[in-house]
Amino acid sequence: MFYKRNSEHHYRVALLASILLLVGCEKKLSSPPIAKNSDSTVTENQSAHSETEKPVTTDTAEKTSAAQTHQKTESGHHKSASKSSPRPLFKDWPAPKLAIILTGERRGYLEPCGCTQNQTGGVSLLANLVKKIEDQKWPVTAFDLGGLVKRNRRQSQIKYETILASMKDMKYAGIGLGPEELRFGADIFLQLHNPEPASPNTTPTFLAANILILETPDLGKSHFKIIEVGGVKIAVTSIIGKSRMEKVPDIVWQEPVKVLPEVIKKMQAAKPDLMVLLSQSDKEESKSIAEKLPVFDILLTAGGVEDPIGKPTFIGKTMMVDVGHKGKNAGVVGYYPESAAKDDPSKRFRFTVIELDKQRFQDTPRMAEHMQFYQDRLKQEDLAAKELPIDHPRGATYVGAETCGECHTKAYEKWLTTAHAHAYESLITGREDQKGQNVISRIYDPECLSCHVTGWHPQDVIRYKSGFVNKKESPHLLGQQCENCHGPGSGHIELVDMDKLEEAKKVMRVTLDEAKKKTCYQCHDLDNSPNFEFDSYWEKVKHPWRD
Ligand code: HEC
Ligand code: HEC
Ligand code: HEC
Ligand code: HEC
Repeated sequence: MFYKRNSEHHYRVALLASILLLVGCEKKLSSPPIAKNSDSTVTENQSAHSETEKPVTTDTAEKTSAAQTHQKTESGHHKSASKSSPRPLFKDWPAPKLAIILTGERRGYLEPCGCTQNQTGGVSLLANLVKKIEDQKWPVTAFDLGGLVKRNRRQSQIKYETILASMKDMKYAGIGLGPEELRFGADIFLQLHNPEPASPNTTPTFLAANILILETPDLGKSHFKIIEVGGVKIAVTSIIGKSRMEKVPDIVWQEPVKVLPEVIKKMQAAKPDLMVLLSQSDKEESKSIAEKLPVFDILLTAGGVEDPIGKPTFIGKTMMVDVGHKGKNAGVVGYYPESAAKDDPSKRFRFTVIELDKQRFQDTPRMAEHMQFYQDRLKQEDLAAKELPIDHPRGATYVGAETCGECHTKAYEKWLTTAHAHAYESLITGREDQKGQNVISRIYDPECLSCHVTGWHPQDVIRYKSGFVNKKESPHLLGQQCENCHGPGSGHIELVDMDKLEEAKKVMRVTLDEAKKKTCYQCHDLDNSPNFEFDSYWEKVKHPWRD
């Protein structure tokens, strides 16, 4: 679908059509939940995590993310696995007048992949946090900074819609825009646009005060939004900082401090109890905005660490917070208007960052429906087949492990006994310890296939031309095979046939040293294999034979 900037009428029609399109797809998404999560209470089964339960005064110290300091050769990256003393949610919090959930920089992490135990985060557990707060009868609303996706591909767009649909269910009231979603470009962005939501308190609105889409101020997003929850009136706006903005066609960036004063005036005209800024900027830039425009009560900034401990920074009356990346945590602000003077944010608010772990949070059936719908769309669009494949630099094609096994019988026999041989099946069954749970098959999901089948670039999630497409078309490339480590083998076999053994060996050669430095880490990265340790892992897959 194309939008012509020179024809006002043309794109109004197109915009209308696309809203209808969105509504159409939302319909499919919004069938009622199958079951209620009835057994969730706030105090049971809690676990250790990095919450700070009380606001702390001006202290910007942060715990560096475990993932950032973790050396790939150490074990025990996942903190929830290593600590286990339970910790109740919102310990010592009196009931606030309002709870505000803050998230951002999800970067495509819709749900944990299940590659390793004790992975945290995902919309399913987040929805359970919302429910737990509601169960306490605290009024609750939620905002997200944006940065919901990572790549700019068809899959990312489908995922974006899925995340938005889940946020709608979770009563998100406003969502900022990150550079990631702006990269989709103006057209796609308009398709998702919902300028006048029918029910403004529950429909996420795209917020962006300082970008112009197709040179039209009100297109594609709102400058700000006023919502009222539990008798608290909130005015919220969002900006993209200079530190985050990239050049995107049809999207014009404006200096936040130039645009915001006008927006602030309109926000203040509504006489809100709280002024909120979602700032897609690094912390320095966010701080400088808070200093120049000292009107915001709460400022959610981007650019923090992956797992923050939840210490706010106070800048005048503004409480600046960051809530981590990849959807592993959620920030919650408790609002206590009675307990202090308006200009003392350290008493008006409590703030905590909650790790979404499986000990304290249960899956939400409604979110599983979104996930299933997402997987169905990936299958329907047949992305693994349709997205443009690339040439392998070697110029050879993938032949499959069984063919290698015709000559390398022992290596093949050994491989059959390794986990690598069953990597495709894991996408259907999930982990051993997920048995009996309702695992949603991911065999059409390129972001899973890229490491679990043969002939893909694992990190870029791109298929090589002769790489795995689906079980029917490429049954010889199921699982994580020889050629993912050794490279495609057609040339090797030709050389063997021509009796050019030295050359034949050279093309396939992977040394132990290369493996240790590079080969394994293409897939055994910090997200998917945090406990990876070369020697013990190699021990399980080594195959020191040539016949
Ligand atoms: C970047 C590579 C990579 C991607 C992408 C990836 N995985 Fe994995 N996966 C791995 C690795 C490596 C392991 C083994 C981890 C270990 O044991 O240390 C694994 C293990 C698993 C396991 C556990 C298998 C078992 O029986 O123990 C499951 C289930 C799984 N992955 C599912 C998925 C799903 C679903 C996706 C897509 C959302 C996905 N993976 C994406 C690399 C990846
Ligand atoms: C037609 C038989 C044949 C097939 C099929 C075959 N190879 Fe080989 N391969 C050989 C021979 C012969 C050698 C040399 C053995 C020697 O050094 O004694 C060799 C050597 C190798 C080596 C050792 C390279 C080195 O470091 O010296 C690797 C690795 C290898 N092959 C991988 C593969 C893989 C992976 C496949 C499947 C894509 C494959 N081969 C398919 C015959 C074959
Ligand atoms: C193309 C991606 C890829 C590469 C490259 C790769 N692996 Fe894996 N590996 C996986 C996946 C996916 C799994 C999970 C398999 C499953 O579903 O059980 C896995 C699982 C394993 C396991 C089983 C772990 C367990 O818990 O038992 C070992 C051991 C292992 N890999 C070792 C290695 C080593 C050593 C290397 C490098 C020499 C390597 N892998 C390279 C994708 C890869
Ligand atoms: C996880 C990555 C990985 C997979 C999968 C893998 N290899 Fe290897 N292979 C290696 C590495 C690394 C070496 C080098 C070992 C060394 O130098 O000690 C190697 C060595 C070899 C050798 C030379 C053995 C020797 O000691 O001289 C052959 C032959 C071989 N592989 C064939 C295969 C075949 C056939 C398959 C599939 C059935 C396969 N490999 C699967 C990583 C892998």
